[in-house]
Amino acid sequence: MVEKQYNANLRDYNTFGIDASCRCMCRYETHRDLSELYAEGIFEGKWNVISGGSNILFNGDYDGTLVHPASGEIVTLTSGSGTVKLRADAGVVWDDFVEYCVRHGYWGAENLSYIPGYVGASPVQNIGAYGVEAKDIIDSVELFCVENGTKLILAAGHCGFGYRTSIFKTTLKGKVIITAANFVLKTEPDPRLGYGDLRDAVDRLGGASLENIRKAVTDIRKSKLPEPSELGNAGSFFKNPVVGEDIVERLKKEYPEMPVYPSGDPGKVKLAAGWLIDAAGWKGRKLGLAGVHEKQALVLVNLGGATGRDIIELAKAVTDNVASKFGVELESEVNIF
Ligand code: EPU
Repeated sequence: MVEKQYNANLRDYNTFGIDASCRCMCRYETHRDLSELYAEGIFEGKWNVISGGSNILFNGDYDGTLVHPASGEIVTLTSGSGTVKLRADAGVVWDDFVEYCVRHGYWGAENLSYIPGYVGASPVQNIGAYGVEAKDIIDSVELFCVENGTKLILAAGHCGFGYRTSIFKTTLKGKVIITAANFVLKTEPDPRLGYGDLRDAVDRLGGASLENIRKAVTDIRKSKLPEPSELGNAGSFFKNPVVGEDIVERLKKEYPEMPVYPSGDPGKVKLAAGWLIDAAGWKGRKLGLAGVHEKQALVLVNLGGATGRDIIELAKAVTDNVASKFGVELESEVNIF
């Protein structure tokens, strides 16, 4: 059943804690609900999907309809030969999904522990952490097509997954609603501990069990990233920029300590946006009611009562400063509505 709320307040629907409203909030559960909204012509007007709101910044009130997935079921589709296939509704809280996998002994999602948001958003951003991305475990994505009201299933190979991007941010943006994702996980141990200090943290907890990896990742994230309930934020505000090797050569001469990572793209290298922002002197700085987090310069925070515009102004000041100091353009990871 579709539940509609007019002039809905969005403060609880965005982890930045921005006080804004939308014309109508539609909470849906099934494909049939979406078909109803389609028949009403909702998708012919201004609309968007909001799930956990952990990667969204509202720049003022939203003059349209927001569609929110309210169903949260996880079911086993198949199992055998060392793998299990699970289907999770778009409305499942991402970390509940990870916890479910860990509890059942399924390997693959544990490095993605404690990432805020819902399952439905995981393919859009191709969320990633500690050397694993959602694309590594996504088998296919179930969609509702708002152009003709039909149901589609897109295999992972057709989802255009890249670093924090997918076809849902490009070609299919505004054309589909993700209703569920299907994941393939392993039933045999497959720890991936190569990223940063994860191995040491897991060893300190007593070895590479699913529970220990989940705890180590959760602890690292909690130590670096602010809790949205205490300090509004959307995790990394910026993507790590991918640049040509010539730029890296130039920067390395002046900043030999600058971290660089392989990008997976020949001739290109990934820089750490957090390092660039920190080195430009922005860590812990405030601009009005918006600030750069004091422990992690990648994260912009609402110091209390900030508007979307306040955050955008800070993001612009940071971006301009990093561009003039290093000649590198930062790009927002957060979607601005
Ligand atoms: N750094 C600084 N100062 C800072 C922040 C970072 O010098 O204020 C340096 C660090 O010392 C390190 C480098 O920059 O050498 C990278 O920093 P870090 O490992 O903290 O962050 P990251 O690897 O760039 C990415 C994701 C995070 C994810 C972590 C762990 C992006 C934009 N961010 O951060 O994702 O949790 O890796 O895998 O890719 C998110 O998307 O919301 C998010 C938190």
